[in-house]
Amino acid sequence: MERLRSTWEASSTLILSLQYREPELRTYRVARALRLLTTQGERTLKLLVKFNLLLVGVFALGLISTWFEARDFLQGQAQEEVLREAGLLAASASATRVYTEEAITPYLAKAGEHDGVFLPQTIPFYAATTTFQKIQHDYPDYTYKEAALNPTNLRDRATDWEADLIQHFRDSPGDNELTRTRETANGPSLYLAHPIRVTEGCLSCHSQPSVAPKTLVAKYGDRNGFGWNMGEVVGAQIVSVPTSLPLKIAHQGLIRLTIDLFVIFAFVIVLIDIGLYVIVIRPLRTISESANRISRGEMDLEHLTARGNDEVTEVTRSFNRMHTSLQKAMNLLEE
Ligand code: HEC
Repeated sequence: MERLRSTWEASSTLILSLQYREPELRTYRVARALRLLTTQGERTLKLLVKFNLLLVGVFALGLISTWFEARDFLQGQAQEEVLREAGLLAASASATRVYTEEAITPYLAKAGEHDGVFLPQTIPFYAATTTFQKIQHDYPDYTYKEAALNPTNLRDRATDWEADLIQHFRDSPGDNELTRTRETANGPSLYLAHPIRVTEGCLSCHSQPSVAPKTLVAKYGDRNGFGWNMGEVVGAQIVSVPTSLPLKIAHQGLIRLTIDLFVIFAFVIVLIDIGLYVIVIRPLRTISESANRISRGEMDLEHLTARGNDEVTEVTRSFNRMHTSLQKAMNLLEE
């Protein structure tokens, strides 16, 4: 707009300079105003460059801030999805435990006693773990463990970091859930853990070997999985879900979004450039070319067409008026 104003000012200077009475001063002023108008036209191309620099700057800023915003959002979504998945798996394992306890144990336990063998199928924690092993067959990156510091089945012994988790639940009795991310061989995994507490019913098997069913002691021995106390946290249910895939999907989404935005921005810049050229630059250049020719003495040029009422048309009209005045002045001079 500043350019427009200066073009307009140059045109008005030209008109004003025509009012000078002394012919020499007038000729000098007119020539100067025309030169001003001509340089104005040459500068309009630079106008396009400046506009583009501004647009590219604004869009780059927009693109960068969108990128950061979208990245945080997509990663958050991926994390939430993984957490939901882990929660669902933990809930399904717990459901298996409850189902076994309510629907299987009462019948199978009697059969076991009758045959004199211990049937681990009657144990809810056994049911949950073995069910999950079947799931793991198809989804090897997912794991489920009922880790205990002093387990009946040594397979369930807590590893170092699992023992830390259990210790955390022992130290903070109010905590009933814990999530952590860990690096594994197959990329990062999210762990969801819930504490396992001893209740009244557990003591018949996990308190003393003398109290526990003989078949149990015969199968597992009298060294592990005993000495548990009422209310104590003895272990943790730990579900782990790989986060690499959801994070990869989030990353792909981010790249796609960035490319789309880039294409849209480029398209918008081209459209704005075309508009700028048609609405501002081309008319200004026509004016400047005319001014150039008039300054070289081509007085009988046709008037420029001025349609509409925007600032550019205003300048064109001023220019036409100036052209007319100049023609009249020149005619007067020649007479
Ligand atoms: C009928 C005896 C019995 C009762 C009652 C019982 N458990 Fe167990 N529990 C076992 C046996 C046997 C295993 C090992 C199963 C296997 O081979 O996976 C076991 C396994 C577990 C495990 C997996 C870790 C480990 O020690 O191998 C946890 C945790 C557990 N029990 C907690 C409990 C809790 C909590 C209760 C009470 C709500 C309870 N148990 C009640 C017999 C029992």
